Amino acid sequence: MPKYFGQYGGQYVGEVLRPALDELAAAFAKYKQDKNFLAEYTDLLANYAGRPTPLLYAENLTRALKGAKTYIKLEGLANTGAHKINNALGQALLVKKMGKKHVIAETGAGQHGVAAAAACARLGLRCEVFMGAVDAARQQPNVFLMKQYGARVHIVNEGTRTLKDAVNACLKNWSARAADTHYLIGSALGPYPYPDIVKFFQSIIGREVKQQLWQREKKLPDLLIACCGGGSNSIGMFAPFVSAKKVRLLAVEAGGLGRKAGQHASRICSRSPIGIIEGYKSRFVQTADGQVEATHSVSAGLDYTGIGPELAALAEAGRVEFTTASDKEALQAYQYLARTEGLLFALESAHAAAAALKIIPRLPKNKIAVINMSGRGDKDIFITAAELSKKEWTEFLRQETRRLCV
Ligand SMILES: Cc1ncc(COP(=O)(O)O)c(C=O)c1O
Repeated sequence: MPKYFGQYGGQYVGEVLRPALDELAAAFAKYKQDKNFLAEYTDLLANYAGRPTPLLYAENLTRALKGAKTYIKLEGLANTGAHKINNALGQALLVKKMGKKHVIAETGAGQHGVAAAAACARLGLRCEVFMGAVDAARQQPNVFLMKQYGARVHIVNEGTRTLKDAVNACLKNWSARAADTHYLIGSALGPYPYPDIVKFFQSIIGREVKQQLWQREKKLPDLLIACCGGGSNSIGMFAPFVSAKKVRLLAVEAGGLGRKAGQHASRICSRSPIGIIEGYKSRFVQTADGQVEATHSVSAGLDYTGIGPELAALAEAGRVEFTTASDKEALQAYQYLARTEGLLFALESAHAAAAALKIIPRLPKNKIAVINMSGRGDKDIFITAAELSKKEWTEFLRQETRRLCV
């Protein structure tokens, strides 16, 4: 297993975490080739997560855009509503094999927290989730769901009170209890061996796309489009195609409100500098003196300051193209896809859809594009309703508050 992807990656942690990371690397190297482990994982994916997720021919969208034939991979139909369950189940199963009983996890949008809590419930593990106060406020439904799955939720009030602060809190907590606790990282980042582990469990997305498209079209796709926060859904979709040089791979970052510092979360498109933060070397949105810069995105899952090291390397090598979609474009795409295809994209995935709406009309009709709908938009109702139907939604919330306070 490579420790570095070009100049990115590595394992920059204190001595106290080394034994746990070594133990994890050894367990992963063993179990990723273990037939019984893989059979158990595949069974969980099929019978608990509901895989394979459908690959929908987006007939109405294709007709409307008059460009490439477009398919949508519906990861939002997986149990718990997003691709995050693929990795949560994989790591939770690994934890069991390693004989640990306790899991901690960080979460931004809450989807990884929900997936980790559900996977731990299913596999009989205790779960604690760390979440920034700002994220918890805007993704309150997910906080509630995590608790229903039996997880304890720690609200983090440090720093900008978003994902990076939840990651920091998790790493700090892990340092004190690494012997009996596994840190279930939710994206393809962090110190070695996490980027490889998460990619391994998320590659099911790309493998299914390949198989499903082959059955329908007898060819590989010409273009794959996925949103990119830390990068787990994009690397998961792209990984099985990286060596197929003719397949264009497009990752979409959060353009937020604009290009000024603090208004976006674009690492590659904004040419963010290299840094070593949270245990790995990658590109991070930073201030001139190397401090982590505040970020913004309408989607809580895309406003992370860093990017997975393998994606940073693939961008540098020119193998993965990067673009951005703004908050406004994502909200427009969310509405457009709902009306055109009857699909409620998660706000994260709506960034991929927004980029697709621009690029697909420019492609010839004999090309095939696949958009990854990494999650469903149900979780975002408190954001989308407030943005798109402010008056009615405010009135509804007022009524509910009155009703609950009686
Ligand atoms: C539905 C969904 N898509 C995408 C992301 C972004 O994460 P990643 O880039 O690791 O896929 C998140 C993060 O929470 C998410 O919930």
